[in-house]
Amino acid sequence: MINSGADGMRKEDAAAEIERLKKEINRHNYLYYVLAQPEISDYEFDKRLERLVALEKEFPELISPDSPSQRVGGQITKEFPTVRHPERMLSLSNTYSLEEVGDFYKRVLNLLPEHYESRPAFVAELKFDGVAVSLVYRDGLLVRGATRGDGSQGDDITANIKTLRSVPLRLGSFSGEQLFQAGSGEIEVRGEVFMRKDDFAALNEIRSEDEQFANPRNATAGTLKLQDSAEVARRKLFFVAYYMKGEAVEEPSHYKRLTLLKKLGFYTDGNFRLCYNLKDMHGFISQWGEKRWKLPYEIDGVVLKLDDIVLWKELGATSKSPRWAIAYKYPAQRAKTVVKKVVFQVGRLGTITPVAQLEPVKLAGTTVSRSTLHNLDEIVRLDVRLNDAVLIEKSGEIIPKIISVVMEERPVSAVPIVVPEACPSCGTSLERPVNEVNCYCPNEEGCPAQVRARLEHFASRNAMDISGLGRAIVEQLVSSGLVGDAGDLYSLTQDKLTNLERQAEKSAAKLLKAIEESKKQGYDRVLFALGIRHVGFATARELAAAYPSLDKLREASVEELSEVPDIGPVIAESIHEFFNKPSATAVVEKLREAGVRFAAETPKVPVNLNFKGLKVIFTGGLERYTRDEAAGLVLERGGKVVSSVSKNTDLVVAGKESGSKLEKARELGVTVISENEFEEMLHEQ
Ligand code: IVH
Repeated sequence: MINSGADGMRKEDAAAEIERLKKEINRHNYLYYVLAQPEISDYEFDKRLERLVALEKEFPELISPDSPSQRVGGQITKEFPTVRHPERMLSLSNTYSLEEVGDFYKRVLNLLPEHYESRPAFVAELKFDGVAVSLVYRDGLLVRGATRGDGSQGDDITANIKTLRSVPLRLGSFSGEQLFQAGSGEIEVRGEVFMRKDDFAALNEIRSEDEQFANPRNATAGTLKLQDSAEVARRKLFFVAYYMKGEAVEEPSHYKRLTLLKKLGFYTDGNFRLCYNLKDMHGFISQWGEKRWKLPYEIDGVVLKLDDIVLWKELGATSKSPRWAIAYKYPAQRAKTVVKKVVFQVGRLGTITPVAQLEPVKLAGTTVSRSTLHNLDEIVRLDVRLNDAVLIEKSGEIIPKIISVVMEERPVSAVPIVVPEACPSCGTSLERPVNEVNCYCPNEEGCPAQVRARLEHFASRNAMDISGLGRAIVEQLVSSGLVGDAGDLYSLTQDKLTNLERQAEKSAAKLLKAIEESKKQGYDRVLFALGIRHVGFATARELAAAYPSLDKLREASVEELSEVPDIGPVIAESIHEFFNKPSATAVVEKLREAGVRFAAETPKVPVNLNFKGLKVIFTGGLERYTRDEAAGLVLERGGKVVSSVSKNTDLVVAGKESGSKLEKARELGVTVISENEFEEMLHEQ
């Protein structure tokens, strides 16, 4: 009997296609994550992955542990078991001084065995600012990923690690290199998991005010400990390898092991260099001291390691760190400036945040003119006054922070900051719960600043994405009394809008259209848009998955809500409280009446076929769509997205800073359109 699946495919054919897809996907992974030279669009990549998942679903017996389908996540880990590392994970001794780097160099030379005559080589590497992780491969297959923990034992986070596309599930599977397979025993690869600066910024954008990560390292650590691996998969973490050890690994040069790691499919970033003397080391340190701001990720220093691994054993380690390596850390970037003014902002949850306006000053590659003071306690702690000279620092190299006041320079004109007793927006007396560093405006419904902030959140890109509902118009809508909550947006009319000052008919019509369009946003976005305290985008998605309709969610008890992955009692309490407020009930009812989506279902938007048969290429950055979104829109409308320009290409959509593809298109006479024209084409009837 022929063994065939639902669509009539024979198992042998499926097996062959699965093998082919696995190879292809692995190769594209390598091109994208290791070499940073992708050949196909994300969309095309996802299509292949989807096909693989579908085939494996039909023939589950063909799923192998190193299949790229294993990366999409979905496994929920309630508790991460503790595991012992094959070898203790030491940390490095740190220094901020070049002189101490010299001492390290001399110390190593003195410790070399007598038979060692030549000058030893060192490897200089970047010190990635992330989370150290140990990966164990058995006979070439990834069997475990663990955090450093206390050095001897860490947490088993294998399910989460597997979602990282820069971690090969089988050694060499990306590059096709058949090394360290059956019989190679255990090989340990260590490295750093990190988040790129742009991915970090995008992640914070979709998190609620009180869920903000301070820097990419914290975001990475938080992500690695998530219970839901599907969410880890979405967060785009990278792994960079800097160490490899195993019985079968004989290579005695660390430098060559790094090259070997790259061959095996690991990302090693490529910025490591051999140094033969102190001058080389200083050169590397000073070069990256300048260049580091341009990197897409954060480094906090440089690591110097003796190249000869045979010597590592001879030199040994102190109780904490090896003698054959040292980390030079760049001093935190600081600048001195003056506090001109402090304003008190009112957030959408009523929290009052003092923000210092500063004399603009250059720091770590950008000009800084504002710095948050976080909360009222911080003003007292720093004893900061208006006109004070202050030192600012970029914590995590991203958000500027006031470190201290330069007391010696306090001018006679320094004026203490007066903390308001009443809300700067509505005048209601502020409240400060005991043991809390924040104070709040309790006038939840009547405070214009809170109403405005809630509306801005509701309309923001990752929520209902109502373009055209910017700060100025929100201000007008609220002050005119037209809009008191998000539900009122849906009863706006052309007349009401054009009666407002400075509202032209055309922009009013555009805004109304955007509001109308927002009704098609998915239920998870709606949940996020409601602005429930502690409920960021990821939490909203978890909630939407666990409770496929708002009515079900509303009925859930605190205990039931706490059962949802990554939702603790505090969030559960907050959700429950939200739905018990009369104001929330009112908004929810208005939104329901308007036809906003309150249940999970795939939106069936009727679309035109404006791109039918067209081969389209995107080049450069689009402002309003991600590449995936844009590709999806073309596909829905009957077109195809291709990756390289040829005579057969029908259309090139050129975004910002498009390069060689645009030139080639012009050479070949292919039609080139802008993002605006693309957008028009999407909607043309
Ligand atoms: S080598 C025994 N190389 O820095 C030495 N570490 O304080 C093993 N790190 O825990 C570490 N970049 O998390 C090494 N290129 C690099 C690194 C690096 C970042 C981190 C790692 C380690 C810490 C040392």
